[in-house]
Amino acid sequence: MTQPYRITLLPGDGIGPEIMAVAVAVLKAIAPQFDLVFEFQTALIGGAAIEATGQPLPPETLKLARQSDAVLLAAIGGYQWDNLPRQQRPETGLLAIREGLELFANLRPATIFPQLIDASTLKREVVEGVDIMVVRELTGGIYFGQPKGIFTTETGEKRGVNTMAYRTSEIDRIAKVAFETARKRRGKLCSVDKANVLDVSQLWRDRVTAMASQYPEVELSHLYVDNAAMQLVRTPKQFDTIVTGNLFGDILSDEAAMLTGSIGMLPSASLGAGGPGLFEPVHGSAPDIAAQDKANPLAQVLSAAMMLRYGLDQPAAASKIEQAVHGVLAQGYRTGDILSAGTQLVGCQAMGEALLANLES
Ligand code: IPM
Ligand code: MG
Repeated sequence: MTQPYRITLLPGDGIGPEIMAVAVAVLKAIAPQFDLVFEFQTALIGGAAIEATGQPLPPETLKLARQSDAVLLAAIGGYQWDNLPRQQRPETGLLAIREGLELFANLRPATIFPQLIDASTLKREVVEGVDIMVVRELTGGIYFGQPKGIFTTETGEKRGVNTMAYRTSEIDRIAKVAFETARKRRGKLCSVDKANVLDVSQLWRDRVTAMASQYPEVELSHLYVDNAAMQLVRTPKQFDTIVTGNLFGDILSDEAAMLTGSIGMLPSASLGAGGPGLFEPVHGSAPDIAAQDKANPLAQVLSAAMMLRYGLDQPAAASKIEQAVHGVLAQGYRTGDILSAGTQLVGCQAMGEALLANLES
């Protein structure tokens, strides 16, 4: 009998449950076609977990995630939790599961769909053919560095502190993922830092440079983050693979996403040293459109495809899902975020049904 894959589902908040429902329906439809068996277990994270348990990442969720073969996450967060103390905010739950599963490598592809070029705010000739992979370090840097907090100085003034720090081992392991990724793509790697100002970036640049000799087939370049932000909108096609730290990667991946027309299209994979990976859309929980059947489920569905490809080593099933996404776009179905002249507006559920119809054909 086929060994079942244990998948932990974390629908989270806002549009999360709606888009997760579509991804699960797609996975269920694809399973028999590739002789796969999925065992889904749903758990709490983010605001939904705060409401039920008082904590954004209940220990049972982390335990379940650790015991599974892969974790599929939708999105977390919402206005009603924005003013809670940091330890109880939804975002803290997301950071805690990344840390708890040691998911240090975050792969964020920004690939433009030919059908969506007109949804981009940039000119067609600038974005046509864009195919970038951002490799973001995810469990270090200023997100996790110590000391951190809001302290009171001797004069009674408040002082907020975060620390951007990287150890050589942390830089080396993400650099290795980045070189390997670039090698499998077009062989170009751009490392982004702020080495003209930050010591932590100087160490980053030194270590990445030192590793280059092990990958003679990869052409390595370096950019300061301010210049990289500019180059991304000026000539995005110069980029193949980008590797950068946690904060710069957070910012540049949103920017890269927008090249493709909508952040509602982009999936991501977070991988660690061997345990289960976590797969989630780059976008957030969009509380303003939650529960109105308006959300774009395609980034979530593409995250399920990334789960099959990178987490479960099922590339054929992943491709089939990706083709179905191309299929619905070619048929003209669009959610509000990617609507353009001559296309047909559909809701989240109808987009899901259109995907299922494509999977059957
Ligand atoms: C992301 C998000 C998160 C991050 C937030 C929600 C904590 O912006 O996944 O890019 O900053 O990493
Ligand atoms: Mg972000």
